[in-house]
Amino acid sequence: MPSVAIVVAALMWIMLLFMFNNDTKPEAVVADPALSAVIQKEWPTTGKAIFANAGCAGCHGANGQGGVGPKLAGDANIAGDHALVVTRILKGKAPMPAYGKDYGGALKDNEVYAVANYVLNSWGNKSTDLVTPATLAEGAGKVGPDIIRVRSRFVPAEINLPEIFLVTFIMLLLTYGIIGLYSHWAEGAELKPGIHKVRSTPMVMVAMIASLSGVLLFSVLFVKQILAGIAGMNASPPLPPQVTAEGFYAAMVVLLLALVLGIYKKYFMDGEVVVEDAGGEFPW
Ligand code: HEC
Repeated sequence: MPSVAIVVAALMWIMLLFMFNNDTKPEAVVADPALSAVIQKEWPTTGKAIFANAGCAGCHGANGQGGVGPKLAGDANIAGDHALVVTRILKGKAPMPAYGKDYGGALKDNEVYAVANYVLNSWGNKSTDLVTPATLAEGAGKVGPDIIRVRSRFVPAEINLPEIFLVTFIMLLLTYGIIGLYSHWAEGAELKPGIHKVRSTPMVMVAMIASLSGVLLFSVLFVKQILAGIAGMNASPPLPPQVTAEGFYAAMVVLLLALVLGIYKKYFMDGEVVVEDAGGEFPW
């Protein structure tokens, strides 16, 4: 039974990973050919008019040569980063005002894209392809660092109710399975009444000493890591603590301590079973 529980827990874990992948997968890109056609047609005319009349020229110069705002002609920043151009126009960045209507600006989406393509294709700038919401979404839709970060964090805010239930169930199954396997190992499948004399072997002695030294080693590493963390906090500028290393050392101490206890119980501690249960079977 305990091993079945562990296998089931592993299968559920795989299921959970699939569910979680599904929750955090990037949004599908919806290409709108009509909008792309409008942008294609409008950028040389509407784009140019907006650049001249909406204030862009006032800050960036009539020929993108720069002024209050940076030079846009031959700007390597924008040539390689279409998303930057569109976001800057949509949201602005002080002193540049926001132009997107969703950010309190005056330009409709097609106009934002028209002027963006105008900037990317004027005064010697040459964009490889037309910038549209679809081309931007395509870049953003790839599994990027943001999505990876969300997945690796695995915080409750991002997991849904079914997943929380599943995680809890997996933990219960695992605990049941591990305790079951452990008891089986430490006490045998059947409990016979009487005194249980145990005898340690040289191998067991070696395992015991190795585990104890492990506990000591990881405790020292843990304390050193914590001290380094405290020193880092007081340094200027402060350094973040290495939480992963601290967690790893602490986990090793706990695991090895459990091993020490297990070995002690199986090979060094005489036990006594007073009453046999109904079938003489171990309750697991
Ligand atoms: C009030 C002045 C001002 C106006 C008006 C203005 N900009 Fe800007 N713009 C700036 C400044 C300043 C920056 C730099 C912001 C930063 O990165 O700190 C900038 C940045 C940009 C960038 C990014 C360039 C880069 O190298 O980072 C683009 C593209 C751009 N503006 C296009 C436009 C367009 C198109 C318009 C008109 C729709 C416009 N700007 C209107 C001042 C202005």
